[in-house]
Amino acid sequence: MKVDYTVSCYDKHARDYDLYQSAVVPGYQEMLDLAAEACKRYLPQNARIIDLGCGTGNAALAVLRKMPSARVYLIDGSGRMVQVAAEKISCAYPKAILGCKVADIAKSDWDEGIDGLGQAGEGYNAIVSTLVLEHLPFDLYKSAIAKCYRLLKPGGWLLAAEGYSQAGSDMQEWFIEEMEERRKTVDPQLSEFVARLRSERETHYYASKAEKEEWWRRAGFVQVNVLWQYLCIALMVGRKPM
Ligand SMILES: C[S@@+](CC[C@H](N)C(=O)[O-])C[C@H]1O[C@@H](n2cnc3c(N)ncnc32)[C@H](O)[C@@H]1O
Repeated sequence: MKVDYTVSCYDKHARDYDLYQSAVVPGYQEMLDLAAEACKRYLPQNARIIDLGCGTGNAALAVLRKMPSARVYLIDGSGRMVQVAAEKISCAYPKAILGCKVADIAKSDWDEGIDGLGQAGEGYNAIVSTLVLEHLPFDLYKSAIAKCYRLLKPGGWLLAAEGYSQAGSDMQEWFIEEMEERRKTVDPQLSEFVARLRSERETHYYASKAEKEEWWRRAGFVQVNVLWQYLCIALMVGRKPM
C-alpha cells in the first residue's frame, strides 16, 4: 500500500533526517516554533500532548522547550523514527514521555490503547502533527482527524502543519525551487540519498486550505484558522468545543 511506502522512506533515513530537514526544508524550524508558541499560549500547565507522526520528535521537543511541564505521547509509523524521537526527548526531558507507539495512522486502530476520552482515559489537551497528514488520502485524512477529535479533551486543540495546493498559485513550485537551492548546502551524498528516497517512495495528497478547513469544521472543530504559512506550508489550528 502506498501509505506504508511513505513510512518506509522515513524508516530508511531516520538517523539522517534532522540534518537534511533543517537545512533543506524552508521555514521548518519557524513552523515548529510557532506550533510550540501556540501550545504555550493555548494550553494549561502539565498539558498532555500527542505528537502525531512525530518523526525524530522535533515538534514535541519545540513544545517542551517552551513548556517544560508538558508531557508528550509519540506516535509514528516508523519504528526507527519513534526510537530516535524517544532517545532525543528522554535525554533532554527525562519525565516528559507519556508513551510511544508505532502505528500507521491510515489504519483504523492507530488510536487503540492511547488513553483517549471515551475509553475511560483522560484525553489530551492537544495533538500536534507537523508535515504528516498530507501523506493520507483524503478519506483516511478525514478518519484521522475524526479520531483526533475523539482523543482530545473538551477545549483541546489540533495543530497541524501541512503542504497545501492553491489553484492559480505557483507556491508549490517556488517551495521546491527553494529546496533545490538549499540542497546544495548539504553533503552531496546525504542530499542525493534522501532526495532520491523521498522522490521514489513518498506520496502526498494536497488540497486547498479552504477544503481542509471545511473538513475540520465537519469533524466538529471550531476556531479553525491558519496561524502561519510559508509558501505552500501552513499551520492550521482548530479547537474541540468546551
Ligand atoms: C516529514 S516527516 C515529519 C516528522 C515530524 N513531524 C517533523 O515535523 O519533523 C513525516 C513523518 O510522518 C510519518 N508518517 C507518514 N505517513 C504515516 C502514516 N500513515 N502513519 C504514521 N506515520 C506516518 C513518517 O514516518 C515521518 O516520520
